[in-house]
This record gives sequence, structure tokens and C-alpha cells, in this order.
Amino acid sequence: MDHADEGQTMKNCKNAFKRYRLRPRVLRDVSNRQFSTTILGHPVSFPICISPTAGQGFADIEGDKATARAAESMNTVMIVSSCAFFTFKDISLAAPNAILWFQMHLYKDRKVTRFYVKQAERAGFKAVVVTVDTPVMGNRRNLKRGETMTAREEYRMMNCYDPNNPEVRSSIANGDIALWDYLTEQLVTSETWEGIHWLRSITKLPIVVKGVLTGDSAIEAVQAGVDAILVSAHGGRQLDGVPATIEALPEVVNAVKGSGVEVYMDGGVRQGTDVFKALALGARAVFLGRPIIWGLANDGKNGVKKVLEIVRDEFSLTMALTGCSKLDDIKASMVVHESQYLSKL
Ligand SMILES: Cc1cc2nc3c(=O)[nH]c(=O)nc-3n(C[C@H](O)[C@H](O)[C@H](O)COP(=O)(O)O)c2cc1C
Repeated sequence: MDHADEGQTMKNCKNAFKRYRLRPRVLRDVSNRQFSTTILGHPVSFPICISPTAGQGFADIEGDKATARAAESMNTVMIVSSCAFFTFKDISLAAPNAILWFQMHLYKDRKVTRFYVKQAERAGFKAVVVTVDTPVMGNRRNLKRGETMTAREEYRMMNCYDPNNPEVRSSIANGDIALWDYLTEQLVTSETWEGIHWLRSITKLPIVVKGVLTGDSAIEAVQAGVDAILVSAHGGRQLDGVPATIEALPEVVNAVKGSGVEVYMDGGVRQGTDVFKALALGARAVFLGRPIIWGLANDGKNGVKKVLEIVRDEFSLTMALTGCSKLDDIKASMVVHESQYLSKL
């Protein structure tokens, strides 16, 4: 899987979880454990959701549709990537009861951005997720070496491709250019929070910003009127060297306290104890990126379901072993950084 530069952040996101220690409470009745919750008001069975990942059709022929079916059967949120292999409509028809959000960037051409939003609204998507850590593409060394996609494939991936829609057709690039160039060309290096204000003015859907890593940006997000923040380092594919997301999470949670804005995180979540740590440090839910693709590549919809089941069951086990029978029992004091246990000598 690709990553920026040396992949320091990608590795650190995973490893940083191991630097936090669990502090269990004993002799609690944990015979009945309850971990259903709500995310932006939608009831979900557990606080483990699906991050947007491009190119799911490379992992499975049914791609995003298979992932959506898994999300539907497990009753959790899936964020559909703007680079999905299928249209929003096809994905929502494949899983009509899934809680689907869609991810996009603020594209150079506002018409393209608006088209995305309207198409997703019509398809019944429940929120718009704006990825804000990509004013330019990160330096994905390994991806750059291997990119071979044609313009037509790339249009299909951009999922706004509709040969009968002249507005969109004239808005997106013509000719045989590579995906990399096309995506890079569509990003807006001059974009500011004003873009979020504009988005607010064209849709009533809740807005989630994905890619916030500091308290300062979190405060700006609240001021721009977002409904939720997804603390994310883009899986270590944008700026290499940023903090692990589990390290950045408390700062963001603290910055938005009292605003009503929900905070989630993704990056390196691989097991139930990771979920527990993220929730203890203030996340309302975690999102999985790569593990979903691994499940999808392994066994389509069932593979994605299996991944979600494994992480959910491990999370349930962690709750039992830490003395928690409901999500509210998970307290900040139950997870501390390892430095608190290191000798002061
Ligand atoms: C192959 C791949 C494709 C991705 N595509 C997108 C995308 O289209 N939009 C986006 O906002 N993030 C994208 N991401 C980032 C993920 O949404 C997520 O932030 C990251 O994968 C979480 O880290 P994890 O993979 O360690 O779980 C992608 C990540 C990967 C690995």
C-alpha cells in the first residue's frame, strides 16, 4: 500500500497505540456488554466504521458495492471515496439501508464539487466528508513509480463521470492524461475555510472534515460550522512526519470541547485495544482504512464483514477485561501514555 516519503507516519500511526497502557478496573459485572452508539445521530451497532479508500475495485470486482453491503449488514457507517469504482447511486442501490457518507475534496471547479454533493444527496447519502489535508498530493514515491491508469478509467474512478452530462464533461479534463495528473490538477492549493462556508451554503447535509491534526485547525473547523472532525493523517500518505493520530486526538478533543462537534479518528487501528484507547482518549468512533481493503481483497463483502467482526469482538473482549459494560464506562483515566510508568531515575 502506498505511503508518503519513507512511510514514517504510516508506521507510527500503528506503533503509537502500543505506547499507551490500559488501566483495568476489576470485579465489575461485565456479563452484558453494550457498545451500540450513535454517529451524527445515526444508530450504529458499534463505534467502528469504514474510512474512504480509493480503488476498491482493484481489490474486488464488486468493490465499493461489496463494502457497502458489509457496512449495511453490520450496521455501521461507510465513507465512500470520491474515487469509488461505482456511482453513488449504484452503491446506495446495492446497500439501500447502509449508512453511507461520501468523501470528496473541494475541487478547483466548484461545478464539479456541487455536482458531487447533489448526486450524493439524491442517492440518499447522510453526510459529506471533506478531506482537508490534500492541497497537493503527498509524495507517494511507490505509487508514482507504478501509475498506469488511462483517462477513461480515471473518469470512472472519479464517479462523477457521466457521458450524458455536458456540464460535468466540460468541467473535467479531456484527453489521455494520467490519474495522478488529473487529481493533482483538480486540487485547489488556494482553498481556505471559506470553501467550507460555501459548502455549508449549498447543502443541508452534515459536514465532516477529515485530516485535522491540531487543536488550532479544530477550532477553525468549529468556527466554519462543521458537524464533525475526523482526526486523520490520511494513512500516512500525505505529510510524512506528522504525529500519529492517536497522539493528535486528545488535543483535538480538548479544542472542540463543549461545541457539540463529534470527533473520530483513523490511522493504524488494527485491533480491539486500539479502539478502546481511541475511545478513552475522546473519539466517538474509529474508522478503518487498509484493514477493510485487506478484507475486501480476501473475500469481498464477507471479508469486510469478517474484519469488522474481528475488531468488534476484540473490542468487546477489551471492554470485559477492563471492567466496562457500556461505552460510558470507558474513562480517560483508563488509558495513559507509557511515559507515566517509566522510571524517573
Ligand atoms: C489505498 C488507500 C486509498 C485511500 N483513498 C482515500 C480517499 O480516496 N480519500 C481519502 O480521504 N482518504 C483516502 N485514504 C485514507 C483513508 O481514508 C484513511 O485515512 C487511512 O487509510 C486510515 O489509516 P489506516 O489505513 O491505517 O486504517 C486512502 C488510504 C489508502 C490506504
